[in-house]
Amino acid sequence: MKLTFSFSKRSGLIALLIGASALGVGLVTAADTESDLLARAKQVFRPLPPTAHVDDFPHSAARVELGKKLFFETRVSTDGRTGCVSCHNPSHYGADSLPRSVGVHGVLMPRNAQTVFNTPLLVSQHYGGNRVSVEEQAWKALTSPFAYGNKTFAEAEAKLHTLGYKPLFEAAFPNEKEAVSAQNWAIAIGAYERTLLTPAPFDQYLKGDTKAISTDAKAGLEKFINYGCAGCHNGSTVGGQSFQKFGLVEDYWKATGSVEIAHFKGYDKGKFHDTGKEEDKWIFKVPQLRNVAMTPPYFHDGSVATLDDAVRVMARVQLGRQLADQEVRQIVAFLGTLTGEVPKQFKEAPQLPVAAFQRP
Ligand code: HEC
Ligand code: HEC
Repeated sequence: MKLTFSFSKRSGLIALLIGASALGVGLVTAADTESDLLARAKQVFRPLPPTAHVDDFPHSAARVELGKKLFFETRVSTDGRTGCVSCHNPSHYGADSLPRSVGVHGVLMPRNAQTVFNTPLLVSQHYGGNRVSVEEQAWKALTSPFAYGNKTFAEAEAKLHTLGYKPLFEAAFPNEKEAVSAQNWAIAIGAYERTLLTPAPFDQYLKGDTKAISTDAKAGLEKFINYGCAGCHNGSTVGGQSFQKFGLVEDYWKATGSVEIAHFKGYDKGKFHDTGKEEDKWIFKVPQLRNVAMTPPYFHDGSVATLDDAVRVMARVQLGRQLADQEVRQIVAFLGTLTGEVPKQFKEAPQLPVAAFQRP
C-alpha cells in the first residue's frame, strides 16, 4: 500500500524517528530537547510563590486593606496630588510609562519608575539598592523631596489624622497606643504590596506545561540561557537578585543615548551615588523582567523606547554580541511569557476617607 505524505518538516521528522527507532538508533528526539530545555530552565528560574509575606512583617486583611487605601492616597503629599499610585499606576502595569517620573510639585525625578509588582521578592529596592525592603521604601518615600515632599514624618502623620485615617490604622494595628504612625503606614503599604504578584504563562511552563509558551518563546528562552542573559536575570523574578555593572563591554550611554543628569552631576553611576565607593561606580541592581513587555520605556532613565532595542542594547553592552533580528524576536517572545495579569486588588480603586485636602 502506498501512503501519501505531505512533506512538512513535522512528518519528515516523524518518518525519521520511526526509521531510527526501527533501526534501534539512539537519537535526540524533539521530546528530549523539549524536556532538556525545561530542565535547564528549572535550574535558573523558579515559579512565583503564592504570596510574598514574611514573618518580619505580620499581615492581616485589615492591614492589606489599609495599605491599599494608602497606596492610592495622594493627599499625604505636599501638593495633595502625589502618591504611590501616581507613578505606579494600574493602567500602566504598576509603573507610569514615562522615561523619568514626575514627582511632587512637578519635579522631574532622576530615574524611571519600575513596576511595583513582585518587588517584595527582589534582593532590595531601587536601582541602587538603598532600601532593604518594600516597607523601608514606603516609609522613606514620605519625606523624599521627589515623592511626598514632607519635611518630617510628623507632618505626614498629622495629615493622616486630618484625613480621618485613625480608625483604619487602629483596626489594622490593634492594641497600639499610637496606631497612626509613619512606620505603620509603611507596614500597611508593604502588606498590600506583598500581595501584588503576577503569575504568568512562564510559571505554567516551569511547572511542566510545555505547551504554555510558544515555539518562538522556547527558542528565545534557549538563547536567553545560552547567551548568558540568565547569568544576571534569574530566579523567580527573572532578575532583581544581584547587582551588576551596566556596560561591561562598553559605556552604557553610548548604546542607550542616555544624557547626563544634574542630580547625579553627570551620567547615572548607580549604586555609587548611595555608597560613595569607587567599586560601586556603574553598578545597578539587575531589574526583574517580569511584565517587562508592559513597562516601556527601558533602563534606569527610560532612555530606550522599545523592548526590541533594549534587548539589542543588553546583548551589545553586557555580552558584546550583535543579535540577528530573528534572535531579538525570539527573545522578546520569551520575555512576553513573563507578562501576568494585573492583580484584581490593584485594578479597582479603593474608597478613601472623605475629607478635604487643606493646602498648606
Ligand atoms: C513621583 C513618583 C513616585 C512616587 C510618588 C512613588 N514612586 Fe516608587 N518609584 C519611583 C521611581 C522613579 C523609582 C525608581 C527609583 C530608583 O530606582 O532609584 C521607584 C521605585 C520604587 C520601588 C522599587 C522597585 C524596584 O524594582 O526596585 C518600589 C517598591 C516603589 N517605588 C514603591 C512605591 C510606593 C509603595 C510608593 C508610595 C509610598 C511609591 N513608590 C511612590 C517613582 C515614584
Ligand atoms: C552582566 C549582567 C547582565 C547580563 C548578562 C544581561 N543583563 Fe539585562 N540588565 C542588567 C542590568 C544591570 C540592567 C539595568 C541597567 C540599567 O537600567 O541601569 C539590565 C536591564 C535589562 C533590561 C531593561 C529592563 C527594564 O525594566 O528597564 C532588559 C529588557 C534586559 N536587561 C534584558 C537582557 C537580555 C535579553 C540579556 C541577554 C541578551 C541581558 N539582559 C543580559 C544586567 C545584565
